[in-house]
Amino acid sequence: MIARQMLADDLSRARQRTLRLVDFDDDELGRQYDPLMSPLVWDLAHIGQQEELWLLRGGNLAAPGLLAPAVERLYDAFEHPRASRAHLPLLAPAEAHRYLKTVRAKAFDALDALPDEDDGFAFALTVSHECQHGETMLQALSLRSGEPLLKATGSLPAGRAGVAGSSVLVPAGPFVLGVDAAQEPGSLDNERPAHVVDLPAFQIGRVPVTNGEWRAFADDGGYRRRELWSARGWAHCEQGGLSAPLFWNQDGSRRRFGDVEAIPDDEPVQHITYFEAEAYAAWAGARLPTEMEWEKACVWDPDSSARRRYPWGGQPPTTLLANLGGDALRPAPVGAYPEGASAYGAEQMLGDVWEWTSSPLRPWPGFTPMIYERYSMPFFDGDYRVLRGGSWAVSPDILRPSFRNWDHPVRRQIFSGVRLAWDA
Ligand code: AVJ
Ligand code: FE
Repeated sequence: MIARQMLADDLSRARQRTLRLVDFDDDELGRQYDPLMSPLVWDLAHIGQQEELWLLRGGNLAAPGLLAPAVERLYDAFEHPRASRAHLPLLAPAEAHRYLKTVRAKAFDALDALPDEDDGFAFALTVSHECQHGETMLQALSLRSGEPLLKATGSLPAGRAGVAGSSVLVPAGPFVLGVDAAQEPGSLDNERPAHVVDLPAFQIGRVPVTNGEWRAFADDGGYRRRELWSARGWAHCEQGGLSAPLFWNQDGSRRRFGDVEAIPDDEPVQHITYFEAEAYAAWAGARLPTEMEWEKACVWDPDSSARRRYPWGGQPPTTLLANLGGDALRPAPVGAYPEGASAYGAEQMLGDVWEWTSSPLRPWPGFTPMIYERYSMPFFDGDYRVLRGGSWAVSPDILRPSFRNWDHPVRRQIFSGVRLAWDA
């Protein structure tokens, strides 16, 4: 049975979030802050274009659409690399807003008309896609220079002393990796199907690595000691002149959404590449977790031999359980969410920072592509590493412990951090 009202609410919440991220003048929306990111107005219209495709045209690009085909093609992410998008004849912001409104009205009609036996997957996918672009837009805004445009709202809980650098044990044994539609109707293709995986025992960080710990690594010559880096990582470190996370200044301050501020020692480190994460782990006498280890530490309940829906249990995320939703514009200090701990005692598995794992993105056995075939499939054979757990910028409506994100190992404009692991 389809959860019609829930999907309608999720669609509306996603749109509210989007609109807050484009509440700027036309010049601003057309600017390209960085070649890595699209102008915000591209994301805006692309959100509508994908929604139209999945909800109004059954995923069929050949079916007649609301936009002229040549205009629609401007929003094909595969045809136009991000760096080129500011130079395209894009819809003006007012046109894009009108288009999104038209699509959304028809999408609600389609939701009303959906047969009861439909699980509403296309709608859940649409919500996920819109929210994922919300995070992308926040990445763009964090690269923007000039006076701040966004203001953080709400407050974050305080951290706890004594958790940074500590770890928890995950004993050897089988667990269920991934999910099925029956359990998680909104799960995306690459999270399915659920299957049993047996893992040796390992230790995993109780919390992500902090800025304070990262500074000790940098001060100890971490960015200059070749032996800590992989061959590719070292080449990138040298070529890119890396010496600290993105947005860190020489004087111990950092830039964050246009504000310059002291770097809080107890906050999870953010804006690091996979290669830096690897070097840090080598320096700390540790390694990165595999994504299988990460997921087991996050959701497996050894007492009941079953997955939990969230690390802490069945209850959806709240502001006391995880830092999600984007309002904070930053990760919470480590130790801020003791109530959010997993069965094994790992904290802050969801929210705060995406955590690099050592795993390349590959399909689970039995993978079947969803209506959006090019969501995962084109990336399985590429040079992508998996990140887990979501960041402070992810909507709680779309995040699950099984959610898999990926990026090139050199990327760090994303809200990326790291949690260590050790063989036990
Ligand atoms: C899952 C975040 C890697 O941004 O490339 C958005 C999400 N895919 N539109 C990306 C996505 C198509 C995707 N990531
Ligand atoms: Fe997209």
